[in-house]
Amino acid sequence: MARIDEKTTSEIVAAHDARPELLVQILASIVKRFGWIPEETVRQLASELNLSRAEVHGVVEYYHDFRTSEPGQHIVRICQAEACQAMGSEKLTAYAEKTLAMSLNNTEDDITLEPVYCLGNCACSPAIMIDGKTFGRVNEQRFNELIDAMRGDN
Ligand code: FES
Repeated sequence: MARIDEKTTSEIVAAHDARPELLVQILASIVKRFGWIPEETVRQLASELNLSRAEVHGVVEYYHDFRTSEPGQHIVRICQAEACQAMGSEKLTAYAEKTLAMSLNNTEDDITLEPVYCLGNCACSPAIMIDGKTFGRVNEQRFNELIDAMRGDN
């Protein structure tokens, strides 16, 4: 993922006509491009959109997708929404935490493990996403295979 820089952030703001009411879309573009929103970007957005830092923070904190710490090279997301819960996502999450030796919302060894709330793959619960790709009916064995394949992609 590209390293965040002021110039690109300004270009993203300009592409949205520096309209403060488009803050969510601006933040989404930044996360899509850089993967996260550092504090200095919050400051820059507040200044360029004529908002307070508290206003920008409020929106960043409201949405799960707006990370405030730099993710690892790989992002593993496990669905925690209803259909997946009914099919064992809690157990799968506990297994993933044990296997990857970290709890949700953490990054270790360049892998970020985080919750997600529905991947639109409810018919194939429990679902997970690895580096933007969705996988369904994931059990412990499948999880191991997917993580091994992900590590092999390095
Ligand atoms: S509830 Fe998990 S994919 Fe929809």
